[in-house]
Amino acid sequence: MRSVLDIVDLSVAELDELMRTACDIIENPEKYQEACRHKKLATLFFEPSTRTRLSFEAAMYELGGNVISVSSAGASSAAKGESVADTAKTVSCYADIIAMRHPKEGAALVASRAATIPVINAGDGGHNHPTQTLADLLTIFREKGRMDNLTIGLCGDLKFGRTVHSLINAMSRYSNIRFVLISPEELKVPSYVKKDVLQKQGIPYLQTTDLETALPELDILYMTRVQRERFFNEEDYLRLKDSYILTPQKLTGAKDDLCIMHPLPRVNEISVAIDDDPRACYFKQVSNGKYMRMALILKLLKEAGTI
Ligand code: NCD
Repeated sequence: MRSVLDIVDLSVAELDELMRTACDIIENPEKYQEACRHKKLATLFFEPSTRTRLSFEAAMYELGGNVISVSSAGASSAAKGESVADTAKTVSCYADIIAMRHPKEGAALVASRAATIPVINAGDGGHNHPTQTLADLLTIFREKGRMDNLTIGLCGDLKFGRTVHSLINAMSRYSNIRFVLISPEELKVPSYVKKDVLQKQGIPYLQTTDLETALPELDILYMTRVQRERFFNEEDYLRLKDSYILTPQKLTGAKDDLCIMHPLPRVNEISVAIDDDPRACYFKQVSNGKYMRMALILKLLKEAGTI
């Protein structure tokens, strides 16, 4: 059974195919409105979420399907001590596809091994978040008109930010990509991502603590929230949380066609004064995410022979 746990579970050809489907859905929504009739998506969210869960649910409804849902660990049998594997086996009896978010790295993998239906990882701890990356890829494609020849700045919590890890993995597979990794010393990209992805594939990257110096050369600036829930102590969080705050003044030297992204939720990282700047793309990411999730649900259900 095909599941999507990591963005590399999808080939570049498949990423391109998903983007094409998403664009077709945007142009011809009526073609898809009965595609998943009588099928059920189960959203199992054991960690807080607004966008990801609602976007999966909206995606399934727009495909004519139905949704059943667990929206917190406390409200499910996980609170009684049930294992992820047993939960996945159980839900396989009710639904056709699962989207799961869990605080533990590898939880979606465990679920996919036990489930008899496709599992989509909607975020596993500080590890991966492949469907946010699908939203990010469609945004890059629609805003820049290309997936190659880009200098991408990633800024903020690059250590615990799972969206960052998945995006580096995805963009490293397109040609002539350069990364500028902007973070405090304590929140640098984990060495496994640098070794296994960037160095292994010979992707050029620069690590810096200085956003303003890096800004003028960037085509994309991907801001992230400091991931409070993954810190071991509150003091470190408080010290690091406002390391980077993007303001209109800081954008003075930036390119006119810079694409400013953020997976959201935003805390303080981007001043609301930037929201009306045409370069602000973070709410477009939200919208693109729904279409990419529609495309992914369709693909996995077709491959499983469910539709
Ligand atoms: C991200 C996540 O959950 O990792 N949010 C999202 O899904 N859009 C980013 C974050 O929580 O900071």
